[in-house]
Amino acid sequence: MNRNIVCIGAGYIGGPTMAVIAKMNPDRKVIVVDINADRIAAWNSADFNLPVYEPGLEEVVREVRGRNLFFSTDIAGAVKECDIVFVGVNTPTKMFGRGMGRASDLQFWEATARTIKEYADGDKIVVEKSTLPVRTAAAMEAILNDHAKYRFTVLSNPEFLAEGSAIKDLLEPDRVLIGGPDDEAGRAAVAALAEIYAGTNGAWVRREKILTTNVWSAELSKLAANAMLAQRVSSINALAGLCEATGANIGEVARVIGADSRIGAKFLKAGPGFGGSCFKKDVLNLVYLCESFGLHTAAEYWMGVIRVNEHQHERIVNRLFTSMFNTLAGKKIAMFGFAFKANTGDTRETPAGAVARLLAGEHVRLAITDPKAIENGKRDLAGLDGIEWVEDPYAAAAGADAVLVLTDWSEYAALDWKRIYESMRKPALVFDTRNCLDDAALRSLGFRVLAVGR
Ligand code: UDX
Repeated sequence: MNRNIVCIGAGYIGGPTMAVIAKMNPDRKVIVVDINADRIAAWNSADFNLPVYEPGLEEVVREVRGRNLFFSTDIAGAVKECDIVFVGVNTPTKMFGRGMGRASDLQFWEATARTIKEYADGDKIVVEKSTLPVRTAAAMEAILNDHAKYRFTVLSNPEFLAEGSAIKDLLEPDRVLIGGPDDEAGRAAVAALAEIYAGTNGAWVRREKILTTNVWSAELSKLAANAMLAQRVSSINALAGLCEATGANIGEVARVIGADSRIGAKFLKAGPGFGGSCFKKDVLNLVYLCESFGLHTAAEYWMGVIRVNEHQHERIVNRLFTSMFNTLAGKKIAMFGFAFKANTGDTRETPAGAVARLLAGEHVRLAITDPKAIENGKRDLAGLDGIEWVEDPYAAAAGADAVLVLTDWSEYAALDWKRIYESMRKPALVFDTRNCLDDAALRSLGFRVLAVGR
């Protein structure tokens, strides 16, 4: 076995993860390959116009690209050259046939496994980095080792990085999870992978933070961790509705709940609901798994997490409706923020998209602004009537009946709200679904103010 590493898939997981692996293992060669030549060209671009934006990523790539990190479209060559093969291809939710709308589409993963088998010229350790349904590793091992000349050991090594903090999450992970078979080859493969995460001279992840489990536990833990996080967001949002109805304040309730060290204070912020590429997909995956093993009550329980999330979008629109005198048709609403969270242009599963569709159904005139997500937003809402995309938040708000804040961009708190108030139609409403503005200050300017959970 040599120490070279290849990663198939130069996307959101593969790019940043390999950059950090190369940084922390200067004595290893790391090659990232992809069938998409444009994406590889972007990773190789002279002006570092990388296909993924993450704070700190460019610095790491500048340090290691050409030193021990390489980007290439030569998949066959890289597989031959490296005995450790990471797979970070996408596994979107299946939109056809069995498991439609729930299960992961594994066709890219399986095609990749067959590619590895075709080009291998020696034994390989195959590391699944994409989030996959439980038992995928076993299926892949069956494909790889069936009538194979060489021996393939499949490990599960799910990634826990969050968008916007990927480099920090990689450099200082809470934990690294490695699942592998409990036999001699499996134990050796797990040790080889753990050595990568320990870094050259042990300079990276401390040994006690590298958790090893069997393959199925590793696969399930990744889904379970995301499902538990999503469940916390739905729990706090479900309580937010009750706060609005009773006069309690969700900020205060969250502070009290979070002070219990068994619960902890993080991930208790009420808002417009969770978005992003992982949470919904992973919860749906868990639902599908539970159903396929006949665990219908468990499936329903997790499905509830998604239902509460969707209900949150409806609640926002219902509150706007009743606060704006039971008619929204023809009114102008300025939507502040379209990204699924601040500091990213990512709009996958963004609550703003769902809310915009509901508002369009009420014939609202929407002016949507966002510092980073306008391009993605235009694509998401293509074909929807009554939508205008505006760079400048002041221009978006001019003449509007309401400002609806859906993303917690810090710049929104710093706006000149007096100027915004003066430019709006009266009575002027602000609905701050992220609880990120000073509502007392807004009220003193003359605004009517709504917030989530208060
Ligand atoms: C998440 C997980 O955090 C990460 O470990 C996993 O690998 C991928 O999925 P990410 O999708 O980048 O990462 O976003 P995250 O920061 O976790 O936020 C998810 C969503 O929940 C966002 O829409 C966010 O606004 C929302 N959220 C989060 C809340 O509404 N309230 C909270 O208290 C926390």
